Amino acid sequence: MYICICHAVSMDDIVKEFQKDPSKGIDKVLQQFKVGEDCGSCKEVVKQLKIDFIKQSINWSS
Ligand code: FES
Repeated sequence: MYICICHAVSMDDIVKEFQKDPSKGIDKVLQQFKVGEDCGSCKEVVKQLKIDFIKQSINWSS
């Protein structure tokens, strides 16, 4: 499923990046995939994905 239609970036692309480097900031990921550089409608979704990823990480370790 595409999260950024303008740049054909999928949800899997973003999640894999968070998994590869959990410390990578949202801005770096946005920049890396050029997400949000056109219409910008995808930016909030990526931010929410990062928040969900962090929440899941905390749940897994407890
Ligand atoms: S959907 Fe990502 S910039 Fe338009």
